[in-house]
Amino acid sequence: MRVGIIGGTGFYEPGILEDEQDVVVSTPYGSVGVKAGRYGDKDVVFLPRHGGDHSIPPHLINYRANIWALREIGVTRVIATAAVGSLHHELQPGDLVVVDQFLDFTKSRPQTFYEGGKDGVLHVDMTSPYCPALREEIFKVASVMGIKVHKKGTYVCTEGPRFETPAEIRMFQLLGGDVVGMTSVPEVVLAREATLCYATIAMVTNYAAGISDHPLSHQEVIEMMRSSNQMLRRLIFQVIAQLPRERSCSCASAADELGTLGKWLKEEGK
Ligand code: HPA
Repeated sequence: MRVGIIGGTGFYEPGILEDEQDVVVSTPYGSVGVKAGRYGDKDVVFLPRHGGDHSIPPHLINYRANIWALREIGVTRVIATAAVGSLHHELQPGDLVVVDQFLDFTKSRPQTFYEGGKDGVLHVDMTSPYCPALREEIFKVASVMGIKVHKKGTYVCTEGPRFETPAEIRMFQLLGGDVVGMTSVPEVVLAREATLCYATIAMVTNYAAGISDHPLSHQEVIEMMRSSNQMLRRLIFQVIAQLPRERSCSCASAADELGTLGKWLKEEGK
């Protein structure tokens, strides 16, 4: 069993892996560099979403290559981190939110591995986009460790790389958004297509535009992530240590319908 960590803003090194090695994985979408090692009895693979030096902006991340690479190297479960802005005063900078839904406001990102033709077409179910079983493991471990987490929240994904206008933030509030970030979509969608269990621990780094009493800056986001980095890292590695070997959710069968479709296409001689 291999567990993947996708590190977001401010999380560029796994830190505590034994036998850590740099591995380059080739995928149909390009090659991806990851760090692979062990933590206790678990194999762990770490992938910094923005590159090791935050040189890849959210709209240019090769999401398909990243998810493909994790799957290729044997990962079945992924814990991702994400820096987010808060849309409500109750979600304060420093809070952790184990998001359970998303609203997609991205504009230019391929969201599927299945481009039709011989690859097939998959209309993947998004009723519970973030794996409920993996989220449950995070709640359990956080509670034992005395780390407060919000157990649900709707992540609004914007295209970026700019921050939002206050008018956009008011619209997102009206639509039911809780936090705003730039990366969860299409990562979560592709993870499900790839039949991975995927959960995001979102760290609130700032109040969103118009709620914050000052203009936003990337520096503010980085500083907040840096100050809470150790806590987030301890939580993630403890979750990994406690993860049961077998998966109890339905993420593994997320692409089964493609199998049916593929079979049908074959039978029809298409
Ligand atoms: N907006 C979008 N993405 C973010 C924010 C924000 O306010 N904070 C951290 N990532």
